[in-house]
Amino acid sequence: MNISIILAAGEGTRMKSKIPKVLHKICGKPILEYVINASNNANIEKNYVIVGHGGEKVKEEFDDSDIIFKTQPIGKEYPYGTGYAVMQAIDHIEDNSNVVILYGDTPLITDKTIEKLINYHNNKDYDGTVLTAYLEEPAGYGRIVRDEKGHMLKIVEHKDATAKELNIKEINSGIYCFKGAKLKHALGKITNDNAQGEYYITDVITILKEENSKVGTYVIEDSKEIHGINSRVQLAFCEKIMRNRINESHMENGITIINPENTYIEPGVNIGKDSIIYPGTIIVGETTIGEGCIIGENCRIEESKIGNKVEIHSSTISKSIVEDRCLIGPYAHLRPNSHLGKNIKIGNFVEVKNSTIGDNSKAGHLAYIGDADVGKNVNIGCGVIFVNYDGRSKFRSLVEDNAFLGSNSNLVAPVIVRKWGYIAAGSTITNEVEEGNLSIARAKQINKNGWVEKKGYKDNK
Ligand code: UD1
Ligand code: CA
Repeated sequence: MNISIILAAGEGTRMKSKIPKVLHKICGKPILEYVINASNNANIEKNYVIVGHGGEKVKEEFDDSDIIFKTQPIGKEYPYGTGYAVMQAIDHIEDNSNVVILYGDTPLITDKTIEKLINYHNNKDYDGTVLTAYLEEPAGYGRIVRDEKGHMLKIVEHKDATAKELNIKEINSGIYCFKGAKLKHALGKITNDNAQGEYYITDVITILKEENSKVGTYVIEDSKEIHGINSRVQLAFCEKIMRNRINESHMENGITIINPENTYIEPGVNIGKDSIIYPGTIIVGETTIGEGCIIGENCRIEESKIGNKVEIHSSTISKSIVEDRCLIGPYAHLRPNSHLGKNIKIGNFVEVKNSTIGDNSKAGHLAYIGDADVGKNVNIGCGVIFVNYDGRSKFRSLVEDNAFLGSNSNLVAPVIVRKWGYIAAGSTITNEVEEGNLSIARAKQINKNGWVEKKGYKDNK
C-alpha cells in the first residue's frame, strides 16, 4: 500500500495573511487540494495531512474529503521541523507500506511525477528515495551531497552547509518515498542538533545511509513542479503555470484559445471541440460548455451549463443553463437559476434572474426578466420590466407562447400573459392578458391645439 504524509503545519508568515497558507488559492482552488489530487491520482490510498497554524480552518475546508488530519502542536515549547511534522503520523505508518512525503504548499507537483518516484523506488528496491532537481539558483534549498562514485551521502541544509557544499546545484525537493519500517526506525533517531534547532526529515537519509540501508535519488524532469509557495509573488507565479497547464490541456482537446495569457479557466471546466475562447474570459466552477461555441471577449461564466453553438460576448452568466444556438450579449447578465431554451437571443443590457425562457424567444435590449416563466417565440421589447418585488416579497409571472410584450411595458407580478397576448408599448400590466387579446394600460394621449403659441413661448425666443 502507498500512503502520503503531506506537511502543512508551517505558518507561512511571508504570505502576511490571516488565511492559512495552504488555503490560499490558485486557479480558484486551495493549493492543498492540488497536492491531494495529485497524490490520489498517483495510486496513493491514504493521505495524512499534518496541520498546525490555522489547522482548524484547513480541516473545515476539507471537511467532506477522506483525508486524515494530524495536528502538530505549535509554540515555543514544542519542537519544530519537517522531521517532527512527519512524526505526527508515525502511528499510521505500516511496516510494509510505501510512505510518500509531500508538502501542502507545493501545488504544481503532478501525479505522473509521484507515480514515477514510487515506481523508481520500487524497481530499485530502495529504502528511501529523494526526489531531486537541478537549479541554477539553489539558494535556500537543502543540497544533495554525493561521494566520488556519485552516490548520495547526505542532504545538507543551506544554513548548515560549507562554502563548497553551497556550490552544489542539485537540491532536495522535500519529496521522498520511504519504506514504512525504515522511516519509522530512522524517525526515532533524528535529533535537533543543527543550525536551526529543528528536527530535519533529511536526517533520515543520513541515518539510513550510515546503517547501510539503500538510499537513492530520482531527478525530476521539470523542476517547476517543486516550486513552493511562501509569498504572494510565488502564489502568482504558480497560478500562471497552473493556468497555462489548464489552457494547454483544453487546446490539446481541440479548443481554440485566442490568447491563453489572459484567459482564466478553472479546473473542473469542460469545453467541447471547436469552441473558441476570446481574450479576457473567466470560466469558473463546475461549468460545461458545448461544441462550436464562441465565448468572449470578456465573459465570466460560473457554475453553468452552456449548449452547442452558443455565442456569448462581454457577459456574465452565473449558475444557469443555456441551451443550443443561443446568442447572448454584449453586456447581458444571467443571474442564478436562469434557464434559456434553444435559439434564444438575450441582447445588450438584459438581465435575467431565476427565470425560464422557451425556444426562439427574444429580449434584444434593456430588459429585466426576474422570477418569470416565459414561453416559446415570445418577443420581449426594449425596456420591458418584470416587476417582481413589492418591497417585501417576490412574485412570479407567466408569459405563454407567442406573446408580444411591447417596449417599455411593466408586468406587475404575479401576472399572466396568455398565448398570443399582445401588450401595447408603455403599458403597466396588473391583470391577466387573455389569449389573443391586445392590452393597453396607459393614459390616453391628449392633444392641445396651438398650446405653445397661446403660452407665448415663441415670442420670447
Ligand atoms: C525543506 C528541506 C530542504 C528542502 C526544502 C524544499 C528539511 C530539513 N529541509 O526545507 O532540504 O530543500 O524543504 O522546499 O526538511 N512544515 C511542517 N511542520 C514543521 C516544519 C515544516 O508542517 O514543523 C511544513 C511546512 O509547512 C512546509 C514544509 O513542511 O510545507 C517545508 O517546510 P519549510 O520550512 O519550507 O522547509 P525547509 O526547512 O526550508
Ligand atoms: Ca525551515
